[in-house]
Amino acid sequence: FQPKPLAGRKVVLTAGPTFEAIDPVRGITNTSSGKMGYALAQACVRAGAEVVLVSGPTGLSVPVGTQRVDVRSALQMRDAVMAALPGADVFIGVAAVADYRPVEAAEHKVKKSSAEMSLRLTPNPDILAEVAARDDAPFCVGFAAESRDLDAYAEGKRRAKRLPMLVGNLVQDGLGSDDNQVILYDDAGRHPLERAPKTEVARKIVEHLAGLLTTAA
Ligand code: C5P
Repeated sequence: FQPKPLAGRKVVLTAGPTFEAIDPVRGITNTSSGKMGYALAQACVRAGAEVVLVSGPTGLSVPVGTQRVDVRSALQMRDAVMAALPGADVFIGVAAVADYRPVEAAEHKVKKSSAEMSLRLTPNPDILAEVAARDDAPFCVGFAAESRDLDAYAEGKRRAKRLPMLVGNLVQDGLGSDDNQVILYDDAGRHPLERAPKTEVARKIVEHLAGLLTTAA
């Protein structure tokens, strides 16, 4: 017997890094593997949800039962999320969205010279904050990967982005690896989970989120 606490619900997730082009062959990205987001997408399917996974570049295969939309940049990710949002009950922002992008991508490969070079960057939109601020916002879950002061930064982000739930982890505990140790934050406080494989952590996150969703409805 497998309970389906998300039966009849539509979940939209973001996962992976984004890639912000500098020129046709170069760009700015980060070390997010996408594993946590993909594990969560899979856990949502197992919990009975219809799942749209908006994914930055990863080497991972499509989790069975999800609809994956592939994107590269933060701007593409925002567009894909907004397009997938109608009818969504839950939005989970797991992606490590680049905070900045080059002001413009060069059309042709940038040639080297002996001169110094600088790159002008402009801030990317905060996709999760935009979704959470909508009048018709679904139940929004955020992630915070920090290298120190996790409680303070995580609770700060949860409040700033107006999220009912946020998953915090120390980067040294999770980024790129198969295991993760996280703490869940919600209006009731902090709920540490035991260190476990990301698939197991994902199942626990979904359980917690489904509980909050039921009480919120
Ligand atoms: O980057 P930051 O620590 O603020 O990320 C916290 C949460 O916000 C994560 O869930 C991340 O997916 C989301 N986020 C986003 N768009 C951004 C930056 C972060 O959706 N531009």
